Amino acid sequence: NPMIVRTVPALRRALDGIRAKKATTALVPTMGALHDGHVSLVRLAKRRARKVIVSIFVNPTQFAPSEDFGSYPRTWKADVARLAAEEVDLIWNPDVKTMYPDGFATRIVPEGPATVGLEDRFRPHFFGGVATVVGKLFTQVRPDFAIFGEKDFQQLRVVTRMARDLDLGVKVIGSRTVRERDGLAMSSRNVYLSPEERLTAPVLYRAMKESAARLRAGDDLAAAMAGGAELIAKAGFILDYFEARHAETLAPIASVKDGPVRILVAARLGKTRLIDNIAV
Ligand code: PAJ
Repeated sequence: NPMIVRTVPALRRALDGIRAKKATTALVPTMGALHDGHVSLVRLAKRRARKVIVSIFVNPTQFAPSEDFGSYPRTWKADVARLAAEEVDLIWNPDVKTMYPDGFATRIVPEGPATVGLEDRFRPHFFGGVATVVGKLFTQVRPDFAIFGEKDFQQLRVVTRMARDLDLGVKVIGSRTVRERDGLAMSSRNVYLSPEERLTAPVLYRAMKESAARLRAGDDLAAAMAGGAELIAKAGFILDYFEARHAETLAPIASVKDGPVRILVAARLGKTRLIDNIAV
């Protein structure tokens, strides 16, 4: 069974034991409420490194006061059972006071093209919170590899940049999005969907695929994207964004010739906010 540690000194001791054996390490940061998407990251981590560490920490600094920090799903027992079945070596589960001690006054605030627009426009607090907590996780654990899902594509790009900019010595690896059979990207927040909303939710994936197909067929970019956005709005979503961006830099693009292209979407269905993306 995985060792479970909750304090920084206990983490140090556990890591000293791992490093004494010269084992390579991979970290999978999560907020718990684990699903098959998270498990796919753990499996990739196991292929990359001898020892796998999963962090479970619902990070308050990446939630705005109006968001769902208090009601974010917490399924600790089931999470531990899943990680035990995957033969994870270590679960790092600090509490909020351990991560953010009284008087905490230092933040990592990413900037540059990857943080312009998309999520940052609708959740301006988000990447500062993510970069700060992931920066802390990387310095606490000092893994050789860290695995992040493409599901949160802008997060993957921001974290990759931060690790390089701050010389954290961690190689960040992206892992493909795991979907339900109808195309809905797995997410801890999907439990918020009513049965009716759950039937509507796969429209996001269908709309992205439709726009991607039109782009590949040579359609005008603005027209192809407007078509997808309309499908989403007609299905009853409130659309935050539906955009084609450069897949590496996330810079806005005017044509597929400026590619490789990634389509990214965020939309609200009732009280649930969903995000997704695909390669064109
Ligand atoms: P969380 O939403 O729990 O996601 C943890 C990791 O799982 C992220 O890298 C995310 O991209 C990945 N993931 C989620 N759904 C996925 C899916 N359907 N397929 C593949 N990977 C998926 O993202 C966070 O937590 C937090 O922001 C965190 C990085 C832990 C910082 O607090």
